[in-house]
Amino acid sequence: MTNHRIALIPGDGIGTEVLPPAQQVLDVVGRRYGFGFSYTSYDDWSCERYLREGAMMPADGLDQLRDKDAILLGAVGYPGVPDHVSLWGLLIPIRRAFRQYVNLRPIRVFEGIDSPVRGAVHGDVDFVVVRENVEGEYSEIGGRLNRGFPEEMAVQEAVFTRAGVTRVLDYAYALAARRGGKLTSATKSNGIVHTMPFWDELVAERGTAYPQVTRDQEHIDALAAKFVLDPARFDVVVASNLFGDILSDLAAAIAGSIGIAPAANLNPERDFPSMFEPVHGSAPDIAGRGIANPLGAIWSAAMMLDHLGHAEAATDITDATAAVLGRTDIRTPDLGGTATTAELTDKLLELL
Ligand code: NAI
Ligand code: MG
Repeated sequence: MTNHRIALIPGDGIGTEVLPPAQQVLDVVGRRYGFGFSYTSYDDWSCERYLREGAMMPADGLDQLRDKDAILLGAVGYPGVPDHVSLWGLLIPIRRAFRQYVNLRPIRVFEGIDSPVRGAVHGDVDFVVVRENVEGEYSEIGGRLNRGFPEEMAVQEAVFTRAGVTRVLDYAYALAARRGGKLTSATKSNGIVHTMPFWDELVAERGTAYPQVTRDQEHIDALAAKFVLDPARFDVVVASNLFGDILSDLAAAIAGSIGIAPAANLNPERDFPSMFEPVHGSAPDIAGRGIANPLGAIWSAAMMLDHLGHAEAATDITDATAAVLGRTDIRTPDLGGTATTAELTDKLLELL
């Protein structure tokens, strides 16, 4: 029997509440299709650990993950630890060390979900955001000078490399070729005069290798408006690290709740483990109450199965998600209901 080695990093807040449901779902489809998981849980890689020991994970943390087939993460971040400390202490080192340069975020409006956007109806809205995940605006290059003086300043350099942009564009084009054949590039080459024109040039250059894909580009401000006004028009949207981050949260909100949205941090070459995590954060405002929506973590686990070569099992999970939303009225509070995490999970397991 295939046994996948999975690292579980629950993290902080509701991260610890949504991973167990994802694990339950994985075990059910594993039994059905005859594969198993050996889990290694890194329960204390969290802000609590940071406050106790000064680091989110141990010094050899990345090495502990290296031989795993995939990583399933809840969320990190908690009041009392600055967000850049928790993010740069765990999530970003994993993404970078394991060359997870594609952040893939599918957006779907499920039947039974009321989108806050009138035009976002089930069946019409089904697209993916491909976010560049290791360079761009999220760079360590820069610094602060003259702290505390009137002339205090901060400089942050965005880094766009030909290799880094090309590989994520190739991923996005190939995905568009397999899907609806349409790629939208997020840019801002009118205002950002060096990196974004470079990005646009590479989009055009790589496009010649994918004649079956029609491409267009939109400035990020206009694109954000179009996400709200006409979300059904998109198929594959490719964006830099910052733009992709913002667009995918917006898209998750359009799909009904950030609690449903999944993400995959992919190393397409499979030289290193890829990491799967819900888009949402640790939600300190609802943590500890047992009411977090587990569907984002569960859908992320389905993306993990897809990556591990179990497409059918992955589809069973998204079908069960569609069924629980489309055929029952069991909803967690973020979706306007009163159900707990456990109640929603139990119903999904029953339908699965
Ligand atoms: P958040 O996603 O944690 O919460 C935003 C809002 O959505 C909150 O009102 C929350 O209750 C709600 N929400 C989020 N997920 C939900 C779920 N599954 N079910 C029901 N409601 C849900 O974002 P926020 O508040 O900006 O950040 C909180 C902490 O999480 C911060 O420390 C931040 O740095 C961290 N964070 C971590 C991420 C990660 O680990 N990938 C991603 C985003 C934020
Ligand atoms: Mg985000």
